[in-house]
Amino acid sequence: MPLLNQEIIATDYTDKNRLELEKWLKKMPGAFDWSPVVKYVCQLEGSRDKWAEKEERLRRTVRQVLKCDILKERPLEPAVLPPADCLISLLCLEAACPTLGACRAALRHLRTLLQPRGHLVLSGGFETTFYMVGDKRFSALPLEEKFLLEALQETGFTIEKLEKAQQPAEGSDDRSDYTGMFFLVARRRD
Ligand SMILES: C[S@@+](CC[C@H](N)C(=O)[O-])C[C@H]1O[C@@H](n2cnc3c(N)ncnc32)[C@H](O)[C@@H]1O
Repeated sequence: MPLLNQEIIATDYTDKNRLELEKWLKKMPGAFDWSPVVKYVCQLEGSRDKWAEKEERLRRTVRQVLKCDILKERPLEPAVLPPADCLISLLCLEAACPTLGACRAALRHLRTLLQPRGHLVLSGGFETTFYMVGDKRFSALPLEEKFLLEALQETGFTIEKLEKAQQPAEGSDDRSDYTGMFFLVARRRD
């Protein structure tokens, strides 16, 4: 993945999630084992035997773990960073935003973290009202495709690629009620 040659700043809202990331980066006891995921990615890339090397490279490339709140105008404050060339956000918008207005504002806030023409890689679920993590239930903001695409346009992004996947079969995933997933690449428009 080209990103691995560059610098990655990992971010999350909760202290616990950031601590888990730090534990994995520093190979601390009890750290989550991400190796099955790394192996799977390497397999997709046709180099499954190189997974350990890739995992090490990924650890070295993550330079900071910062608090992020996308509901704030400056999501990373008090940290001040140079604008990024790529920002990746997966399953976060619908988890973080209480309303559609807040979601539109969050996209505007994320845009400020990118350099002009910088890439936004965004993924999430459509029309999700809840998701489970273990036995904990979290509520989510139902996003519709029309809203999402219009909100990206309105907040200064150009969508370059959009892929969608349906929920395999109704009721087959009881960990969430999303109707489908979206995977998109957009660019900051200036
Ligand atoms: C469903 S999880 C997704 C986590 C991870 N990106 C993934 O794909 O597995 C939602 C994430 O949104 C984060 N989150 C919640 N509120 C947030 C906020 N205001 N700003 C940024 N992230 C937030 C949570 O801490 C959590 O990590």
